Amino acid sequence: MEELLKSLKAKAAELIQKAADLQALQEARVKYLGKKGEVTALLKGLGKLSPEERPRMGAMVNTVREELEAMIANVQAKLEAEVLAAKLGAEEIDITLPGRATRKGHVHPLTAVNDEIERFFMKMGYTVAEGPEIESDYFNFECLNLPADHPARDMQDSFYITDSVLLRTHTSPVQARTLQSQKPNSPVRMIAPGKVYRWDYDATHSPVFHQVEGLVVDKGITFADLKGTLELFLRHMFGEETKVRFRTSFFPFTEPSAEVDISCCMCGGEGCRVCSHTGWLEILGCGMVHPNVLTMNGYDPNEVQGFAFGMGVERIAMLLYGIGDLRLFYDNDMRFLKQF
Ligand code: FA5
Ligand code: MG
Repeated sequence: MEELLKSLKAKAAELIQKAADLQALQEARVKYLGKKGEVTALLKGLGKLSPEERPRMGAMVNTVREELEAMIANVQAKLEAEVLAAKLGAEEIDITLPGRATRKGHVHPLTAVNDEIERFFMKMGYTVAEGPEIESDYFNFECLNLPADHPARDMQDSFYITDSVLLRTHTSPVQARTLQSQKPNSPVRMIAPGKVYRWDYDATHSPVFHQVEGLVVDKGITFADLKGTLELFLRHMFGEETKVRFRTSFFPFTEPSAEVDISCCMCGGEGCRVCSHTGWLEILGCGMVHPNVLTMNGYDPNEVQGFAFGMGVERIAMLLYGIGDLRLFYDNDMRFLKQF
């Protein structure tokens, strides 16, 4: 047995020293020291020896095992150092390269436009109000002088949750909510920004879009106040030379009513796909608050008058930035958003 142990040790030592990589070393370890390894087998075989021989042989086999283990540890350390050195050599870092800049985010163009609208009106002394996006038929239509079966509802027929609850189709319900929350006939000067929902989808119509509502109520408010306010606002947003037109229109909640267009940004007014070949792009609806609306919301039209407007934030952003399809705002394509 002693002879066998000696030759085993010599063969194992050779295999270990020759191991070219960690894999080969591991194979050598398994071959001699693994569960079914040759040295392990010798240890297991000790039981068959006579009680006198057993301790001596046991000690010898154990010594060989320890020596081989130490040898493996040595070779392993050497091989690992080689692997590391090779890796470091291959991954050399060029410290002269410029660093990677952290990318800074910025607000979305629609947020920027919305903020600018708010800033303008806050400077003019308006408060900022909010209303729910899930709205009752009562606030969205009824108390805006739009009773059930009124044909003007069709233009906004929208996403219903129940027969009497829907996703609001405009920010105008905040007019009614604001009036009802005030002491009757007390002055109001507010804007209400927010999301609205309609059954629309093309280059200038999105099913979800943003409006900013405006409402001013006080003694002696006239259409001249409305026109002056909006012209000041539009010149602030688009520059002094902007062409603006007021076009007579109809809204059940205003009388008289108007829609405001500004010259198309894409074609400069010549007519194109974006402006449906008219040269103009509609950005808001407005008018004098209908006496019925004042009455239905607790105000007395003989005491106070008002004007209201509702503008489309996407349309304003399209015109400001010269964008031909408002769906680009929602695609979250970084190549598009990075430009702002
Ligand atoms: C209204 O929604 C009225 N509530 C506005 C109003 C308020 C009139 C107060 C009088 C007094 P209109 O449906 O025209 O009106 O929409 C207002 C603006 O929202 C439009 O001028 C347009 O700029 C924008 N808009 C309308 N539909 C869409 C849409 N699907 N996608 C993007 N913008 C839209
Ligand atoms: Mg309109």
